[in-house]
Amino acid sequence: MCGIVAYIGTKPAADLLVEGLKRLEYRGYDSAGVAVLGDHGIAMERAVGRVANVEARVDAAGDIFRGTLGLAHTRWATHGGVTEANCHPHTDDRNDICLIHNGIIENYGALRTWLQERGHTFKSETDTEVLAVLIGELYEGDLEAAVQAALKEVTGAYAIAVICAQEPDTLVCARKGSPLLIGVGSGEYVVASDASAIVAHTTQAFALDDYNVCKLTRDAIQTSTIDNQAVTPKMMQLEMDLEQIELGGHPHYMHKEIFEQPESLRMTLRGRIDKNEGRIVLGGLLSHASQLVRARKFILTGQGTALHAAMIGEYLFENLAKVPTEIEYASEFRYRNPIVEEGTVVAAISQSGETADTLAALTEAKDKGALALGVVNVVGSSISRETDAGVYLRVGPEIGVASTKAFTGQVAALTMMAIFLGRRRLMSVEECRAMLDELELVPEKIERILGSADTIKRVTEKYVNQENWLFLGRGYNYPTALEGALKLKEISYIHAEGMPAAEMKHGPIALITEGMPVVFIANRGAQYAKVLANIEEVRSRGGHVIAIATEGDTEITSLAEDVLYVPDITEPLSPLLTVVPLQLMAYYAAVARGHDVDKPRNLAKSVTVE
Ligand code: AGP
Ligand code: GLU
Repeated sequence: MCGIVAYIGTKPAADLLVEGLKRLEYRGYDSAGVAVLGDHGIAMERAVGRVANVEARVDAAGDIFRGTLGLAHTRWATHGGVTEANCHPHTDDRNDICLIHNGIIENYGALRTWLQERGHTFKSETDTEVLAVLIGELYEGDLEAAVQAALKEVTGAYAIAVICAQEPDTLVCARKGSPLLIGVGSGEYVVASDASAIVAHTTQAFALDDYNVCKLTRDAIQTSTIDNQAVTPKMMQLEMDLEQIELGGHPHYMHKEIFEQPESLRMTLRGRIDKNEGRIVLGGLLSHASQLVRARKFILTGQGTALHAAMIGEYLFENLAKVPTEIEYASEFRYRNPIVEEGTVVAAISQSGETADTLAALTEAKDKGALALGVVNVVGSSISRETDAGVYLRVGPEIGVASTKAFTGQVAALTMMAIFLGRRRLMSVEECRAMLDELELVPEKIERILGSADTIKRVTEKYVNQENWLFLGRGYNYPTALEGALKLKEISYIHAEGMPAAEMKHGPIALITEGMPVVFIANRGAQYAKVLANIEEVRSRGGHVIAIATEGDTEITSLAEDVLYVPDITEPLSPLLTVVPLQLMAYYAAVARGHDVDKPRNLAKSVTVE
């Protein structure tokens, strides 16, 4: 999720900034950049790829990087591909203002147009550059005042650090929605996205709050709001050791990413829900909207967890957008010489954007004339570059091999796409608004489920020595059952199988033995009564039912050994909730069995081979 480091003090800034970026590498990024203000003005180097790449350029640049004020950034692209021109820092078109940014400037398009009308030019595709140019436009000799004025025009999320060639003794930073810490040393300050880049220099720090702006000189701090109301910083003692900092206090990345889902989903949804008009705004699809609305068929393809998200997408597209939709394993689609008719749209679902089979399937579909979409997390990845249009997940880097926040990000993106299409086809404004109201509540409902993690852990540990589990669901939650089985298999190494609940009678019911754990996704839905009947079939053969049920459902308690509750929600959105207990069950089972949760045996985070 990118990283920011800035320094003002008496030490050479360049080495300190590069070291700080290395401390933030764990946050995930795709490119990096460093800028230092010295006697030669602002020196800047940027590079795609590892921090080491930009470090080499700074080292080679020599004296121009001498200076004690600077900025450094690791980028996790959201607007504009992974290119050197899109790397931060960004300057204004007069090269006076230099800025780094973590977050999303949602109204960057309108601001860019306004600035272009005032004669400004742009060198990148990013939203961040617009903010740098805007500050330059508003600069009248006071950097802090220009930053305050600019941020009043901005909507979105930001953590920024800004310097100006005319003010060699000033560093200004600000935040809204993205974290920013300020480390306070003696005659020096280190500003960073998190403590890991600060603790090597000082343990005294304070966090900026939303709408705070902080002006730092070598011997003073001045913190205010963007309306210039004075703010008194609340100092704290940074104590976490570096290992813990990288995990943010979580025991594993998978644990961190499961618990990040409320925030990562807010990032996925941010700026894309227009309640007034009752519609979804997906900038990455707009240029092809009419072609998408007229599509005669969608093919959703991927592998593993991404395919399970695609399967939920099939229900969403057909029920909300009323458009024929098929699912294909990418590895099968690419080799079976598929028939791709006129008016077909193929969407590749992929966290990494590098899965070989998915990339090949997309290329095969394009070669046969399909419009190619991507639902991808990593900006500028191979799949995203192969597509005609798409929707980025914006969940930030997913480090754990077992996909969790990317899955809910994929399902949320597919939900928004279905509403985007449905609203242009047969969905009424009222239907749309009702769905958007519910979609906005998903993050806080996930927070409620995460609050019951101890219960989920206790239930899981009852069955952790059982070597065979079944996961059963119907409708939207049939793919969720598959995802639950995959999660358990891939990190606890317990054999698990998911299937439609009705399918059990056609053979797998022979597997039911006394005490066998059978997980039913039994939330309130169209087929709830049918699921209860399936539960009875399992109970009558001695199976132990673990039910994922809707809060307030007391009927199920008499049928299930254990009940894990999720908040009520409209059925099309229910997988976003019902999957969370399944993710935690897999996590707690793997921990109980002593496995390497983040790097399970035999698995890679991205399968870039066939
Ligand atoms: C998910 O937990 C697995 N690690 C795996 O199935 C993964 O979803 C699959 O390899 C697809 O990866 P992608 O989303 O990066 O394309
Ligand atoms: N939205 C900005 C960009 O795409 C910043 C992304 C980040 O937080 O790294 O460059």
